[in-house]
Amino acid sequence: MRRIDRVTSQGKSLAIHWADGGRSTWPAIWLRDQCRCATCRHPSGQRLFEIGDLPEHPEIAAVAQGDGALRLDWRDGHDSEFDIAWLAAHDLSEEARAARARQPRLWGKEIGNSLPEGDWPTIARDPAAELRWLEAYHTHGFGLLRNVPVEPGQVAAVGDHLGFVRTTNYGKLFDVISVPDPNNLANTALGLGVHSDNPYRDPTPGVQLLHCLESEAPGGDTLLVDGFAAAEQLRKEAPDHFDLLTRVPASFRFADKDADLGTRVPLISVDDEGRITAVHFNNRSFAGIDVAEELVEPWYEAYRAFAAVLKRPEREVIFRLGPGDLVVMQNERALHGRTAFDPNKGRRRLQGCYVDKDGMESRMRVLQRKVKGAAA
Ligand SMILES: [Fe+2]
Ligand SMILES: [Zn+2]
Repeated sequence: MRRIDRVTSQGKSLAIHWADGGRSTWPAIWLRDQCRCATCRHPSGQRLFEIGDLPEHPEIAAVAQGDGALRLDWRDGHDSEFDIAWLAAHDLSEEARAARARQPRLWGKEIGNSLPEGDWPTIARDPAAELRWLEAYHTHGFGLLRNVPVEPGQVAAVGDHLGFVRTTNYGKLFDVISVPDPNNLANTALGLGVHSDNPYRDPTPGVQLLHCLESEAPGGDTLLVDGFAAAEQLRKEAPDHFDLLTRVPASFRFADKDADLGTRVPLISVDDEGRITAVHFNNRSFAGIDVAEELVEPWYEAYRAFAAVLKRPEREVIFRLGPGDLVVMQNERALHGRTAFDPNKGRRRLQGCYVDKDGMESRMRVLQRKVKGAAA
């Protein structure tokens, strides 16, 4: 545990000078809002007061250091106690915040030799094996499961194990198979460029699962591209293009006789610190842009540049799914596609479903608590 050298308070803030030479500070309002006392928090951890109930300018009157905790006396008579380990874990410094942010491991073609994968029967019965797979999946934005029973419907059973399957107008799960007169190009034998599925939904599916049941048809290999790595490459090579794609939304739409879905979302999303959080890319359901006229030409130039980066051979991983293989992809990061196949020379059948992203993150954190004893 990080050890304290000394603690100082200016009333409006608290500073810990750590024995390792570091210094962390917290504004008084932040600390007061985080008070864990029985008046402020229900045993569930949920807050019992509203923001308007707090003093607007709370002031720390005194700080005392106890066994592994700091006790704060507030000017208005309230007391708070904070675990030092908890404070250390909630350091607001730039370095500490950066260390807490999830660091995706960006990848390209080279990962084809070491795909993040696991044996489904082992994962289904061993929480430690499942956690290892889930951590690799979250780092890479995709993961493979081998030896999933080759039976229709298994994809949804796996989806409901890892998270919660989201039912859509395609049902709880859908078949990817070549059919006559399809409502979606996925159900032809055509090659498909890499894409995120269904960006016309709000929210876009967070996770897609695809389970291979039959793969005798020549062709139909799976393509994956790390959309975050491609977006980072665009940011480096053409910052203006990158910037435009984060600011100007594209429209996506899907309509058939039963559904009419549409969204407006940027191709690249970034958070408040500029980290890439999502890529939405799908030329089939891209409906155009509905923006000020002067933005149209620059946006198309940026769109073309991003599409070209996504097509670079060094970005693309190609592998073949065999019966029993199931690929799980963060749909707004690991863009997927396939090579064309010949349905006259053999069958190809996949089943897919969508799962929400938060459910899989929750699953990972609960297993971290169980397996590693990590704090809630
Ligand atoms: Fe797809
Ligand atoms: Zn309190």
